[in-house]
Amino acid sequence: SGWSIRMDLTIKPLTPRLGALISGVDIGRAISDDVFGQIRAAFEQHSVLVFSDQPMDDARQIAFSERFGPLERTVPSNPAAGSVFARQSNIDINTGEAIPVDDRRMLYQKANMLWHADSTFKETQSLCSILSAREVPPLGGATEFASTRALYDELPAWLREEIEDLEVEHDLVYSRRIVGFEFTDDEAAAMPSAHHRLVQINPVTGRKSLLIGAHAKCVIGWPESRSRELLDDLLERTTKSVNCYRHEWKTNDVVVWDNRSILHRATPYDASKYRRLMQRTTVSFAAQTTCSR
Ligand code: SIN
Repeated sequence: SGWSIRMDLTIKPLTPRLGALISGVDIGRAISDDVFGQIRAAFEQHSVLVFSDQPMDDARQIAFSERFGPLERTVPSNPAAGSVFARQSNIDINTGEAIPVDDRRMLYQKANMLWHADSTFKETQSLCSILSAREVPPLGGATEFASTRALYDELPAWLREEIEDLEVEHDLVYSRRIVGFEFTDDEAAAMPSAHHRLVQINPVTGRKSLLIGAHAKCVIGWPESRSRELLDDLLERTTKSVNCYRHEWKTNDVVVWDNRSILHRATPYDASKYRRLMQRTTVSFAAQTTCSR
């Protein structure tokens, strides 16, 4: 007694600005506080963590995700509504059969192909999302990530100054409409929009990032055209390749990303030919209240 083994993870950066491949840990099992501390520190530093060969079932994914904080419940329009999972899939949750490509559920998911951060339309922001690849198509279906923290670091001083105190309205009804998806009145009423600071400060590292993406409808108090122009400009600056990491999925990959500093988007695959099943858990950023510093 009196001695303990310290396990060190291997952390290999995937790009200079974001992303790291983490190995030397089985995240499907109970992990020690020491090991989780290393994972959490890597998350604050690299924003996107990739783990491979981590066979997940729902219970294991919940246990791992809860290490980061309390889990959100899924919005009513997702097929996994009411659970802690957002199901990104062309496979019907009840029958196991392929969902027709023109089905409303597939249109809903099409919006995932717009750059966004998860749950920015909710009053309580999200800390991170955890996506596990249960079934992946042999071709296509990659997920791309872009760092608004990397963007912030390179913004000219005048622009940083201009945006420092802005607040943005985020609205799911607005963003789904972009791809032609309309909520029913009841669904829409259950999802009021939310206001958040445009410039976010990471309480651990002190680094700044931007909360933008598809749900960002307008800058509070700005005329619509000026507001759109700014939000589009910031998005375009963020998503140039030097700020991006593209993940080509293998079955049993798990990726964790920081919703405060990372935008992501799904990319196409042939849903009439291939099956894709991804399970996402989303962790609340419970410590932070809206618009406070
Ligand atoms: C998501 O937008 O949360 C899912 C991304 C994906 O399915 O690739």
